[in-house]
Amino acid sequence: MQRDLKFALVGAGFIGRSHALAIHAVNRTFPSVPIGAKAHILAELDEGRARRAAAELGFDRWTTSWEEAVDEADAVVIAVPSFMHRAIALRTLEQGKPLLCEKPVGLAVGEAAELHAAAVRTGAPNAVGFTYVRQPVVQHARQIVRSGALGRVLHLRGRHAEDYLADPAVPHSWRLNAATAGRYGALGDLGYHIIAMLRMICGPVAGLSGVTRTVHATRPDPASGGQPRVVDNEDYAAAVLRFANGAVGTVEASRIAAGRKMDIAFEITCERGTIAFDGERMNELEVFEIGQNQAEQGFRRILANPAHPFYAGFLPAPGHQLGFNDLKTIELAMFLKAIAEGKSAEPDLSDALRISRICEALLDSAESGRWIENPEDYAGK
Ligand SMILES: NC(=O)c1ccc[n+]([C@@H]2O[C@H](COP(=O)([O-])OP(=O)(O)OC[C@H]3O[C@@H](n4cnc5c(N)ncnc54)[C@H](O)[C@@H]3O)[C@@H](O)[C@H]2O)c1
Repeated sequence: MQRDLKFALVGAGFIGRSHALAIHAVNRTFPSVPIGAKAHILAELDEGRARRAAAELGFDRWTTSWEEAVDEADAVVIAVPSFMHRAIALRTLEQGKPLLCEKPVGLAVGEAAELHAAAVRTGAPNAVGFTYVRQPVVQHARQIVRSGALGRVLHLRGRHAEDYLADPAVPHSWRLNAATAGRYGALGDLGYHIIAMLRMICGPVAGLSGVTRTVHATRPDPASGGQPRVVDNEDYAAAVLRFANGAVGTVEASRIAAGRKMDIAFEITCERGTIAFDGERMNELEVFEIGQNQAEQGFRRILANPAHPFYAGFLPAPGHQLGFNDLKTIELAMFLKAIAEGKSAEPDLSDALRISRICEALLDSAESGRWIENPEDYAGK
């Protein structure tokens, strides 16, 4: 072991808890990772939450000051709502400390650009919590496409759909408020993930045209006894895409897709076959290869197994299945390995900036009806 890093975790809500479990699991799951992760200090909003979460999640100390947590730690995980990302990330990067920041990285493109610039200036290693790109079968799909075994990518479709806001009676929350979640709704929450996945497999996006819809324009506000409060961002977003490698396709994000719980999915059609993935069956990949005997033609279902990246850290036997929290352990393992090599881990703040620009371009295109070239370099309207 090169050294131990004392981690600060800022925010112990939904995703903060997964990060905490990963900090404890990473060195036992991946003993070859050359840096140790220690659960040192946990920051939460108030004393009760901080004390309870630190005890439950096995941290040495707790605080209600994220500044104290950043200053005291060797490395920082940011797991708070988007409007808090910028300040915490800047303080971490300015101290040259490794930073693992949750997506979408700030409220808007400007903040993502500022954080990327700070990381470049200070050289602080960084990574962004694009959880789903870590799935062993998705990494395997990337290897198949990048190897050229199925030929060039012709067309593809990607989708991340969930139904946590399908019911109009679900109350207003920070995710629906421009001041706390920024301009992106379903895009910022879900679209970021599927765009990150498609980019990782197929490379940069070269052009797009977007469409969005906010179906439930108001929601009951718990702060005012359930009075209707305006929803600031979209429930559904979609785009037609052209990739730099010539492939064309579609991507969509929905937070109102009744019945869908974790429908992060893609289908990539290549010259000699097709690869399909469905996040509700995250341990499976479907592959079809042209040239099979017609009587037996069909997709092969490949179960996640130790030959796929990272799987063997968890299990020696094929088909025994990983879960969501395991993806955060993989994410941290990749990050610690990158830190040991003095690098950032993909997807990092530069990828997050490019994905932010794609989302900004998609929203502007939806408003104007314009096709936008080179959205990864998009400078705004
Ligand atoms: N990568 C993923 O799969 C994934 C999944 C869910 C959420 N996220 C991202 O993670 C972030 C947090 O989302 P969440 O769902 O965990 O939210 P959440 O509301 O469940 O939890 C946020 C936590 O942050 C705490 N918090 C808020 N302000 C704080 C402050 N100033 N200091 C310390 N703690 C503070 C809150 O008390 C809360 O416990 C968002 O950016 C979201 O987009 C990522």
